[in-house]
Amino acid sequence: MTADLVINNGIVVTPDAAFPASVAIKDGKVIAVGAADAMPAAHETLDASGLHILPGAIDVHVHFRDPGYPNKEDWESGTAAAAFGGVTTVFDMPNTIPPTGNGTILAEKHAIAAAKAHVDFGLYGLLGEDTIDNVPELIAGGVIGFKLYMGNTFGKIPSPSTGAMLEAFEVVAETGKRISLHAETNSIMERRQTRLTQAGRREPLAHLDSRPAVVAVEAVSRACILSEWTGARIHILHISSADELRPLREAKARGVDVTGESCPQYLFLSTDDYSRFGGVIRVNPPVREKDNQEPIFAALQDGTIDMIATDHAPHTPEEKTRNDIWAVDCGFPGVETQMPAMLTQVNAGRMSISDYVRWSAYNPARHWGLYPRKGAIQPGADADLALVDLSLEWVVDDAKIQSRSKISPWHGRKVKGLPVHTIVRGRFVMRDRTLVAGTKGWGRSVHAIQKMPAPDVRNAGKTMRAVTNGFRPSPTTESAA
Ligand code: DOR
Ligand code: ZN
Repeated sequence: MTADLVINNGIVVTPDAAFPASVAIKDGKVIAVGAADAMPAAHETLDASGLHILPGAIDVHVHFRDPGYPNKEDWESGTAAAAFGGVTTVFDMPNTIPPTGNGTILAEKHAIAAAKAHVDFGLYGLLGEDTIDNVPELIAGGVIGFKLYMGNTFGKIPSPSTGAMLEAFEVVAETGKRISLHAETNSIMERRQTRLTQAGRREPLAHLDSRPAVVAVEAVSRACILSEWTGARIHILHISSADELRPLREAKARGVDVTGESCPQYLFLSTDDYSRFGGVIRVNPPVREKDNQEPIFAALQDGTIDMIATDHAPHTPEEKTRNDIWAVDCGFPGVETQMPAMLTQVNAGRMSISDYVRWSAYNPARHWGLYPRKGAIQPGADADLALVDLSLEWVVDDAKIQSRSKISPWHGRKVKGLPVHTIVRGRFVMRDRTLVAGTKGWGRSVHAIQKMPAPDVRNAGKTMRAVTNGFRPSPTTESAA
């Protein structure tokens, strides 16, 4: 048998070890990992001397804005950024226009992504007050999971009441899919924002004052209670504070199937950066006081937080530099800079490169039912690889990144450790820091290979559907009630 590609002289990284080995790839899959002289013949060989071979990162939290906001990003520019960032699979959020809330809209988004993506992807379905009945069609249409906004953010998707959230959890619990939560409690922050505005606060730090950590603590705690009651699997997006860790730890200790992510902005930025970046740093949840960074890092180390994602949230320079902080769009790009930012920490000795692989690829793949097809370098796995040079230094320059959003608080940051090649299912999509021509449209939805474990549904006899014998109100009944 002749392999398509054999990569020699690199160091293969798994969640447990980093060891010199060759990797053979055929038909998009890894077929062998081992000594160079044990590799099959190959059509092409790559000398990876000096490079580490990582499973491509799986970023479970990006906003590629397509359809709806082509001035901010689209599937082509967003996945080009992913390819440059060593990211081989992305999960895209549903706050596009129209929001990804039914089967028809989902099918349209799947078609757009399949036509433009350089890397593999999963699509979230929107779980809102009015889309609970659409769960079956969203599942049939191939969502990777659901997104529920407990708090308002960009796109102003209304946050469901706790009653609707419980019903939504009941319905999703039996499907086994995971629900990702924007865990910030809307009523607290809306009230504070109104009061802050009335009090004349319009500078960047007013944003943080509208969303103190208790906003997240309350939401994480409530979400875990509903998850525990229903058995719905949940994922806490963008953990930003040390205070959220206690409800998360306690829920995990009780056996709740909850996972968590943090993002580079909560590890590497703090209130010290607000004056320098102004509105550019505005993001939900907000960048917080510096003393949150160390506990978040430690929580990754001890497994309380399972993974690194980015919340890649591109906007235009005009949208990010308005004088009134309340008028500034929230978020900034990150899918291209996450890996270099984290590898810089590997170089600094704060963590091992295996730790990084555990947070960036192995755990996302496991918790989303993609392991070992994704997130592993072993025979049978998809050949999704990031080949990184840990000695390469780079200064992030917003003007040169792939994302259409040329403005971020990463601008000017010095990093050490950079992906030089990215391979998706055996094919180079980024090679020698250059996008490979013809790879637009190579990305595929990963929902077809997702295998979530059987659900552990609880209190099935007490669900809304059980106690109302499956009664569903028509729109008129609902408004009359
Ligand atoms: O800052 C944010 N921006 N946080 C979110 O949760 C959404 C995101 C966006 O879509 O812009
Ligand atoms: Zn987000």
